[in-house]
Amino acid sequence: MIATEILKIQGNLQENIEDNKKLEQAAKLIQQGGLVAFPTETVYGLGANGLDPKATAKIYHAKGRPSDNPIILHISRREDLYPLVKGIPKMAEKLMENFWPGPLTLIFEKSSIVPKDVTGGLDTVAIRMPSHPVAHALIEKARLPIAAPSANLSGKPSPTKAQHVIHDLMGRIDMILDGPKANIGLESTVVDVTSSTPIILRPGGITYEQLKGAVGEVEIDQGIQEDLKEDFKPKAPGMKYTHYAPNAPMTIVQGPKNAVLCKINEMTQNDIDKGKKVGILATEENKEEYPKGLVFSLGRRNQPETIASNLFDLLRQLDEKKVDVIFAEGIEEDGIGMAIINRMNKAAGHRIKQV
Ligand code: TXA
Ligand code: MG
Repeated sequence: MIATEILKIQGNLQENIEDNKKLEQAAKLIQQGGLVAFPTETVYGLGANGLDPKATAKIYHAKGRPSDNPIILHISRREDLYPLVKGIPKMAEKLMENFWPGPLTLIFEKSSIVPKDVTGGLDTVAIRMPSHPVAHALIEKARLPIAAPSANLSGKPSPTKAQHVIHDLMGRIDMILDGPKANIGLESTVVDVTSSTPIILRPGGITYEQLKGAVGEVEIDQGIQEDLKEDFKPKAPGMKYTHYAPNAPMTIVQGPKNAVLCKINEMTQNDIDKGKKVGILATEENKEEYPKGLVFSLGRRNQPETIASNLFDLLRQLDEKKVDVIFAEGIEEDGIGMAIINRMNKAAGHRIKQV
């Protein structure tokens, strides 16, 4: 057991001397090889010195993360990128101009100073420049690329609140910066820029449509779309692991509104008759349509960013309520919907019912 220090942080840094002192303390811990969880605009990250294999080894240990799953390096300035990569393609420049700082991670050929321990043995490295003021200030003060996966136990939903980090990692890491809720609520979009056309390896905060708008052609890795077979290797190693899985089995029901409502209500009644506790993930527009079961509102169908921001917290609440089975409404796939569906499909182990 490690004594985990929890430091409350307001996140409004310009005038907050207390916050700045705490950030200096956190940055020093990172420089000394410690582990610090901190808020970003996507989800909370678990940070360590990205150039120190001993420090990054602690991340894998604390999360129970498989050692072949590479970690994103976080930087705060454009010039921090140059020593970490071999070259910067033109289209990557465009993506950075448009979306950095922000929820976009780019995969480059790595330089020799990046240890293979952080890249899961790969010759490429993932880099992101977060826009969150706390994340930005922490990197600025540490003056190091900060390696940071999501700050959850491996396999659990990514943490969108400090409370989630405390739940998973208390006693396993040195410090938690307890700030406001992460605003986007889903992880960054991961894009491989090592071949001529950029390839989305993980959908996230920056959408397919936004990327296309900036650079024209964009591909989507097969690993995102399907229930992966044993022998298929997605380009982002993290996409092959079971993720976000709530304890209870979850089924997504897709189709026209009335058919979905009917099917979920019918399955709910069936399971209640068998003595089961049923959780329902409904959109705000439909939540009154379910007379039975424990209904949670995902957020608004016509404002999918609200669904993105609630989803991981709801998956954790379903565990807390100890439901036996979960039914979820499907949602539309455009915009941030692609990332939401990707995470929901993983949470459901790809159990999807078309009605
Ligand atoms: O929003 C985010 O990206 C958050 C915050 C903390 O920045 N971080 C995050 O990290 O989600 P993590 O480790 O949970 O997910 C990183 C994903 C994994 O699927 C990993 O396999 C992939 O990025 N990845 C990292 N380096 C890679 C590389 N060199 N090549 C391909 N995929 C890579
Ligand atoms: Mg993660």
